[in-house]
Amino acid sequence: MVGVETYPYRFSPPVDYGKTRSVKGEEWYQADEVAEEYEEKRFSRGGRLIDRREKQAVLDAIGPVDDQNVLEIACGTGRFTVMLAERGADIVGLDISAAMLQQGRQKARDAGVADHLEFMRGDAARLPFPDDHFDTVFAMRFFHLADTPAAFLSEMCRVAADRVVFDTFNGTSTRSIYNWLLPMGSRLYARSEVEKLLEGANLELVNAEHDWILPYGFYRKIPGSIADPIRDADTTIGDLPFADRFASVSYWTARVR
Ligand SMILES: C[S@@+](CC[C@H](N)C(=O)[O-])C[C@H]1O[C@@H](n2cnc3c(N)ncnc32)[C@H](O)[C@@H]1O
Repeated sequence: MVGVETYPYRFSPPVDYGKTRSVKGEEWYQADEVAEEYEEKRFSRGGRLIDRREKQAVLDAIGPVDDQNVLEIACGTGRFTVMLAERGADIVGLDISAAMLQQGRQKARDAGVADHLEFMRGDAARLPFPDDHFDTVFAMRFFHLADTPAAFLSEMCRVAADRVVFDTFNGTSTRSIYNWLLPMGSRLYARSEVEKLLEGANLELVNAEHDWILPYGFYRKIPGSIADPIRDADTTIGDLPFADRFASVSYWTARVR
C-alpha cells in the first residue's frame, strides 16, 4: 500500500479555496440513506448495464493494473476502487462523504480486499498528496457535479504522473432533456469544452469513447429484460457515422505532458 495515512496534508498544505471550487449535491451524498440506496437506485434493473459499461471504460482506460499506483477521486461506494483492488492495483479511494465511504469499506470487506486498498475522506479540491504521486488518477460521475471543473482537473493532474481518466455527460444529447427532470441537474459538457479543459491542465488526449444515445436515467428505470434489447439498439445506432456526436456520455483518457 502507498501508506497515505502517514502524510495527509504534509506535502500539500491545505489551501482555503473558499467558494471557488464547488460541487453540486456535495451535502446530498453525506446522508446515510442516500449512501445506502445509491447503488440500488442506479445500478439494479436496467442500471446493471450502466455499471458494467462504466467498469469496462475504467479497465480499458487504465490497462493492466497490477503494480499501478492509482487514486480514485469521488470514489463513492467504491464500485471501481474494489474492482481495481481485486485486480491487484495499489489503490486509494477518496471521497468527501463518510456515509459513501462506509458503503465502500463494507464492499471491500465482502470482497476480501479490505487490506489491499485505502479509503480516505477528503476533498477533491485539495488532495493530500505530493505532486506526481500516482500513476493514474481517475474520477467517474464526478465532473457532471463540478461547478469548477478546471480547478478539479488541475488538482487531479498535479498528483498524477502519467494518466488522468474521467467521464462527462454531454449537452448535445438526450441527456439535456432528461436533465430538466432532475432536482439538481447536471453540468453538461460540449466536446470542445473538454478539449479546452485538457489543454488548460496540460493533458494530452489519448482516447475518447462516446456512448449511450439514451441517457443513463432511462436504463435505470426499466427492467433488465427490456433494457438488454434497447441497449443493443442503442449501440447499433451509436456505431453509425456521426452518432457519437449525440452520445450522452463520454469517457476521456489523457496523458500528463
Ligand atoms: C455521483 S457520486 C459518484 C460516486 C462514484 N464515483 C460512482 O461512480 O459510483 C458523486 C460522489 O462525489 C462525491 N463528492 C462530492 N463532492 C466531493 C468533493 N469535493 N471531494 C470528493 N468527493 C466529492 C460525493 O460524496 C459522491 O460520493
